[in-house]
Amino acid sequence: MTTRISRVRLERRTDAALADTPAPRLSWEVETDVTDWRQDSAQVRLDGTQTVTLDGSASQLVAWPFPPLAAHARHSIEVRVTGTDGETSGWSEPLAVRSAFLEEGEWQASFIGLTEPDGAACPGLLRTEVDLPGPVRAATLYATAAGVYQASINGTDVDDGVLKPGWTVYQERLVHEATDVTALLQPGRNALGLRLAGGWWTEQFGFHGQARRIYGDQPAAAAQLHIELADGTVQVVSTGGHWRGAAAGPITASGIYAGEDVDARRALPGWDQPGFDDTGWTPARVTEIAVVPEPAIAEPVRRTEMLPVQQVLTTPSGKTVLDFGQNFVCRQRLRLQGPAGHTITVRHAEVLEHGELGVRPLRHAKATDTFTCSGNEDAFEPEFTFHGFRYAEVTGWPGDLDPEAITAVVVGSDMRRTGWFFCSDERVNRLHENVVWGMRGNFLSLPTDCPQRDERMGWTGDIQVFSPTATTLFDCDAFLASWLRDVAVEQRRSDGICPIVVPMVLGEPRPTAAWGDAATVVPTVLFERYADRRALAEQFPWMKAWVDVLVERSGERMLWEGDFQFGDWLDPAAPPDRPGDATTDKDIVASAHLVRSADLVASAAAELGRTEDEERYRQIADRARQAWQQEYVTPAGRIVCDSQTAYAMAIAYGLVDDEVAQAMGDRLAALLRQSGFMIGTGFVGTPIIADALCSTGHADAAGRLLLSEGVPSWLYAVTMGATTIWERWDSMLPDGSINPGEMTSFNHYAFGAVADWLHRRVAGLGAGSPGYATLHLAPVPLQGLEHARAVQDTPYGRAETGWSEQADGTVLVHAQVPANTTAEVALPGRDPFVVGSGRHEWVIEDPRPSRPPAELSWQTSLGAIVDDLRTHRALLAEVEAVDSYLAERLRLHTSWQDNQTLQDTLFGVSADGRRALSAAIDRVNASRTR
Ligand code: BGC
Repeated sequence: MTTRISRVRLERRTDAALADTPAPRLSWEVETDVTDWRQDSAQVRLDGTQTVTLDGSASQLVAWPFPPLAAHARHSIEVRVTGTDGETSGWSEPLAVRSAFLEEGEWQASFIGLTEPDGAACPGLLRTEVDLPGPVRAATLYATAAGVYQASINGTDVDDGVLKPGWTVYQERLVHEATDVTALLQPGRNALGLRLAGGWWTEQFGFHGQARRIYGDQPAAAAQLHIELADGTVQVVSTGGHWRGAAAGPITASGIYAGEDVDARRALPGWDQPGFDDTGWTPARVTEIAVVPEPAIAEPVRRTEMLPVQQVLTTPSGKTVLDFGQNFVCRQRLRLQGPAGHTITVRHAEVLEHGELGVRPLRHAKATDTFTCSGNEDAFEPEFTFHGFRYAEVTGWPGDLDPEAITAVVVGSDMRRTGWFFCSDERVNRLHENVVWGMRGNFLSLPTDCPQRDERMGWTGDIQVFSPTATTLFDCDAFLASWLRDVAVEQRRSDGICPIVVPMVLGEPRPTAAWGDAATVVPTVLFERYADRRALAEQFPWMKAWVDVLVERSGERMLWEGDFQFGDWLDPAAPPDRPGDATTDKDIVASAHLVRSADLVASAAAELGRTEDEERYRQIADRARQAWQQEYVTPAGRIVCDSQTAYAMAIAYGLVDDEVAQAMGDRLAALLRQSGFMIGTGFVGTPIIADALCSTGHADAAGRLLLSEGVPSWLYAVTMGATTIWERWDSMLPDGSINPGEMTSFNHYAFGAVADWLHRRVAGLGAGSPGYATLHLAPVPLQGLEHARAVQDTPYGRAETGWSEQADGTVLVHAQVPANTTAEVALPGRDPFVVGSGRHEWVIEDPRPSRPPAELSWQTSLGAIVDDLRTHRALLAEVEAVDSYLAERLRLHTSWQDNQTLQDTLFGVSADGRRALSAAIDRVNASRTR
């Protein structure tokens, strides 16, 4: 029997044990082959000497059990545990812990920039030198920028972060990293360098010719190097007017949207080494920025993967285009030798349209890099920009382009992957993979809408709907907790309103349903997935503030009416140029969110023990719920807006009581069946519709929706070769042309929010209580799938659940429950039960309805056809093969009802059409008997 401790961690970051506060929380995982293992107590040892015993089973985000840490402190932590079986594990590997915060008042570095910039948003270099009288015991660099920067010491970059310090609400919140630079310093002369560009700080935000700089015209950086010499003396080197700067170095222009211009002839070897002659440089300009940076709490952006060129294409017009086979966010690394002064231009796009680069969806983002050769062997990689693309058009490559000379360097916030899903349908697996890539590209310092066009902003609605999926796929507790601090800052700046984008760069904030509700939803999701009570408590005042804003907007009637709303954005019925013209009324969506957010605040209050708040917000929720029901719901349970999203909201947000919810679930399932299981939801309805169906006993309909093909459906994009989730159901039209609307990105994660449901319901692996302290295992075998499986690296360790059809007609369910947790298991046809940690298997009856496939004829009822996945699918495919007009009529304009027949729906079809259809019917029947 072995029990060992793995993954001892500090606070939320998964990449480093950096204490961003003097009392960082501790977590650890237990690996054991003992089943039903529970922790009875844990011992934590500081620096191999001081040991504290903690009774009980807590192993996640455990309060710091020692005196508070001092700034600049370095310690080691070990953990061991004793199980309820009385056995004690060995000590864990020691975890090296470093303080990453500064004492109050200790930050003294000034922000510095160039005195003589070459135009606006000028990239540049800053340097200084320092003498150290002896060897260094420990040194930490605290640095940040109003812009984007990298620091180097004696010619070596201090870390592997890129685009540091990321984007925050710069007016009030900047973050610094705390980098261990001990190894880079030497006794004697040392050089410190800062490479700097404008990044988000100087970017121009806004649409329709309104784009403008929000923060400043020139970037600046601030750094404080804390050095402890071997003799115990401390030396601090900070940025200030004594540094020297120049608009020098290979980067001549750089912008997030524009791309970067790099001229290798301007490389300055040795500029960040001691002894460099900087007499031509000018003293740095000290800027007025007064924000004191706080410790970064999230993992930085890093280079996370390298990918080769898949194919070199020549377009119809003769251009050379590289295809990387994946829509992603990256920069390209080029190695080549060209004539001095020769320039290569690279443009980026997500798709090809009629064989050429499809750049229209980028709107005003130039997304173009240029590389000018030095004449020697050059290595280029743009440093302070990023592009969302799959295809790159290369102009001016000297000689024959060698694809080996180019590599894509994927960049993104470096979070730990935690969730995987697999099933028997490769298209669904690809859909899931597309969601993962969408998240990798859009979790770049902040959660963005898209990574390619002139937006890339922290759109609150997008992350509101995607946060459950995000927290399943990656450990993004740190990432989202950091962004929530920006949400809080913006709410403080705008009387409680959570704006449509955070950081807010689009005019005056106004409350918008489903977008501003990120203020209540995201902290709730973080609590559900990580039991992160601190984030919940920190955010609680702002959760309340948001609901208070809505209550005010809703007045006496407790209905939020008449305000500007995005509503069920991009529902498939909305015309290309009017993405907000959804089937579901905007006020119905708005008032539903008032109920939902008030409920979430009440639940958070209960969790935090704030009884008065709980009561107040419960009352608000109840009054708003009643108002919503009275205004919008008929006594029998129809919603005045008879739409998929309206029913999905009512069920998923608990807007009606259980009996009415059931009636609504039935109606929703009926609407879907009538439509031939075609999705009709936008940003609001899409993430919740499958859950709403499952919770009202219509898992079958949810499965049919998942496996639908054609526009609009989740699988449509997959069948069109998508490698990320598209912004709209038909960003690419079936004929291969790009949707004419403005909202046509090919990398928007909102519709990918279905992935969380794949994990929780289809494979059946979800959190039963906050932070997966208990699992909820409830697999739902779906018609059309043979097996499904999810793996989740929970805070307690790896969990797994899945099911597979067996040859004898039963279904085998398996599960892996991590040590120190239990699982409540809800299997179809059985009463729920609880199991302990370890591996489990159960055999169950196949719960899926076995319907005899309908024998097809002109007289077959449409209801019978649509109920059978294979018959329905085969009929559509056969008809498509013979007559696309008829196929469209069947797919888009047929109401699949019991009391109508094929004959009825194809009324008026020509003699040729009838013959073709009869042949299609025969082929479907024949294929079934085979
Ligand atoms: C963005 C979104 C965002 C929306 C607001 C778009 O321009 O790309 O995803 O949520 O505007 O409705």
